[in-house]
Amino acid sequence: MWHGRFSKDPSARLRAYGQSVSFDQRLALQDIAGSKAHAAALRKARLLTPNELKSIHRGLESIAREIRAGKFVWREELEDVHMNIEAALTRKIGAPGAKLHTARSRNDQVATDLRLWMREATADLVSAVRGLQKSLVGLAVRGGDAIMPGYTHLQRAQPVLAAHHVLAYVEMLERDAGRLADAAQRANVLPLGSGALAGSTIALDRRFMARQLGFDDVSQNSMDAVSDRDFACEFLSACAITGMHLSRLCEDTILWASSEFGFLALSDAHTTGSSLMPQKKNPDIAELARGKTGRLYGNLFSLLTTLKGLPLAYNRDLQEDKEPVFDSADTLGASLEILAEMFGAARWDKRRMAAAADDALLVATDWADYLVRQGLAFREAHRVVGTLVALSVQRGVTLRDLSLGDLQAESKLFKAGAMKCLDAARSLRARTAEGAPSPKRVAARLAWWGKRLASAKS
Ligand code: ARG
Repeated sequence: MWHGRFSKDPSARLRAYGQSVSFDQRLALQDIAGSKAHAAALRKARLLTPNELKSIHRGLESIAREIRAGKFVWREELEDVHMNIEAALTRKIGAPGAKLHTARSRNDQVATDLRLWMREATADLVSAVRGLQKSLVGLAVRGGDAIMPGYTHLQRAQPVLAAHHVLAYVEMLERDAGRLADAAQRANVLPLGSGALAGSTIALDRRFMARQLGFDDVSQNSMDAVSDRDFACEFLSACAITGMHLSRLCEDTILWASSEFGFLALSDAHTTGSSLMPQKKNPDIAELARGKTGRLYGNLFSLLTTLKGLPLAYNRDLQEDKEPVFDSADTLGASLEILAEMFGAARWDKRRMAAAADDALLVATDWADYLVRQGLAFREAHRVVGTLVALSVQRGVTLRDLSLGDLQAESKLFKAGAMKCLDAARSLRARTAEGAPSPKRVAARLAWWGKRLASAKS
């Protein structure tokens, strides 16, 4: 493409080192869409005849068909997706193909292609997020009114509904979908027309191209437009944060699936055995999804680091943007899909949850609240109940085994009704504020999610 200036071919090593076609061929259909819009703008500027435009469009469409059918032959010596397609077009239609690159550089071309690609990838990821949300709502519904211990510091804290715990992840995923959509929206600005870095003396109608390609706006600084990869960083960041949420969900799942907790049984179809220990049933999917979060973080840091020292405008370093973006989209998409399937087939062990939730210490705070309702200051009430907990530990009994006399020895405010406080179901019923886990609140939120997700496509 640049033989005019050069007297030697690139070395074989340079070719292999510099090629991007092995991975940027994933941008082929976006590249073709961009070229069609660019050709239409060239026609509008009277730089192509109607017949030349028609022949370019037809040629590009036939190349797109070959690519979709897997019949297109990619050539490493043509370096990247852009030059492969342009060369194929010229081979196919002759002279008009050589006019296509007028007023365009691969710098504005690749920035356009990647934005288009990301827009589609984001839509797919958002629908995969919706799929996992639906699966988790199903799991929460199957939890019914089952109570489990809620944890802080991974120590039993207070009772919650299993459904409430699961719905926490549905909330997180909702924010993730919002971040992905937000990244896609900010990326939806057309770089094409920025040329190599300084636009072109041949002015094309950029608003027209933006409309053809479904962009909301056109970039306002050509140097920024060819070197900006913020949009890719935002995408990678949204993927990394989503991965962090999946990793936490997986960690909970791994704990719940252990013999120590035993709250959740994963299907045989979603677990693996051991080659050595015949009894093992391992939650590999959850472990892999937790592990792959490292890749999602790595991809974000890879691109941030690539960008940090770059002078304006385009530098070849920017070619390193694509593999992290592709990998994060693939990795996150696969994790979301397999987790949706896994939770769809997981079964609660309500007996094990009930046994764990029966721990009277979980409702110790309710005694403090009881004393507060009798007029005691919370700090004082906290101290009184703490003393009773210490007493029960010292006697090796549960709080329920203390007598009313034991209680009244610490505070006269305890009446017979105090014993009733040590009931997890009753405790939960009383947690009625918005966002709290009373069965009524949780049921209402479940219904809300059911409706919300029914209207969201996945
Ligand atoms: N393959 C290149 C990339 O991904 C396309 C742009 C190349 N531009 C250039 N001036 N060499 O960044």
